[in-house]
Amino acid sequence: MALITLRQLLDHAASEGYGVPAFNINNMEQGLAIMAAARACDAPVILQASRGARSYAGDIMLRHMVEALSEMNPDIPMVLHQDHGNNDATCLSAIRHGFTSVMMDGSLEEDMKTPASYDYNVEITARVTRAAHAVGASVEGELGVLGSLETGEAGEEDGSGAVGKLSHDQLLTDPDQAVDFVLKTRCDALAIACGTSHGAYKFSRKPDGEILSMETIRRINEKLPNTHLVMHGSSSVPQALQDLINANGGDMPQTYGVPVEEIERGIAMGVRKVNIDTDCRMAMTGQLRKVAQEKRAEFDPRKFMIPAMEELEALCRDRFERFGAAGQAGRIKPVSMDEMARRYASGALDPQIAANKAA
Ligand code: G3H
Ligand code: 13P
Ligand code: ZN
Repeated sequence: MALITLRQLLDHAASEGYGVPAFNINNMEQGLAIMAAARACDAPVILQASRGARSYAGDIMLRHMVEALSEMNPDIPMVLHQDHGNNDATCLSAIRHGFTSVMMDGSLEEDMKTPASYDYNVEITARVTRAAHAVGASVEGELGVLGSLETGEAGEEDGSGAVGKLSHDQLLTDPDQAVDFVLKTRCDALAIACGTSHGAYKFSRKPDGEILSMETIRRINEKLPNTHLVMHGSSSVPQALQDLINANGGDMPQTYGVPVEEIERGIAMGVRKVNIDTDCRMAMTGQLRKVAQEKRAEFDPRKFMIPAMEELEALCRDRFERFGAAGQAGRIKPVSMDEMARRYASGALDPQIAANKAA
């Protein structure tokens, strides 16, 4: 099956009331494990590559890897999405390399460290959206800066993340501004800030409403009922994976992620795309450490990778099932990028925006 666009997939998810995990991918083993999980439960897939992933694997390798995964899984609709694009060049070069969707993250300036002005964010997101829609690709924008309501800090994830102390106004997306942002940029999906941050160290305790503001999501969804919302920093940092890593020579301080049941509440309030990277990293690393610890004479990388892939597959399968994506793959009829471009050009995809205006 040819790759489909994010807009097509999230429109389906909205009409059926489910959410789709978006898993980050950097290498073949992650791809194989995610697709094995999708096959096992008949779920559509969003694979996303960060700028770091693109420089790690290379655009050509990523493109061919994803094409191979698609050919191996002809019944599974797949989206290839640019995670946290920082400028026009990143987004447009991704589309040129076969991505069907891009995130233009204008919540931060191009350096991915400095919180951007609202006007900058609107301008760059609208510009990228015009260019992407012309060729049928989808765009995710972001309004609000990811970071901790406990510390006011973003935490650094491989060079990306706001520096300095952030106010609650910056850390929580403003619902009225969100309406204005979607109307002006015409983005297909909106990433919001609600107290989550990237990486493993999100919360110092199991989060409650003080530090994970599901209320912000509810208020945005009330004003933008037809806009697909995206939760970033949505790894759950499972205790079992922390224990697995620490029991096998790791030294991760106790930490807390976003409980899966909170994500389920989010899905009931319009969240359609749920970004997960850290959990996938922890699943693989936990098993790699376990083999290294228990089989000290082992040197065949495949003996490390097979249990790592199995752990990742189990994690992905759980998220597909919990988010309601399981069983949906076979119900999606692919729409080509050309056809999506025609629909954007004819205004056929605009009623969503009109409906939001009326809401
Ligand atoms: O956006 C954050 C993701 O976890 C990607 O991380 O830049 O290290 O690939 P990365
Ligand atoms: P986690 O670090 O919580 O997995 O978040 C990943 C993410 O938001 C990628 O954009
Ligand atoms: Zn993110």
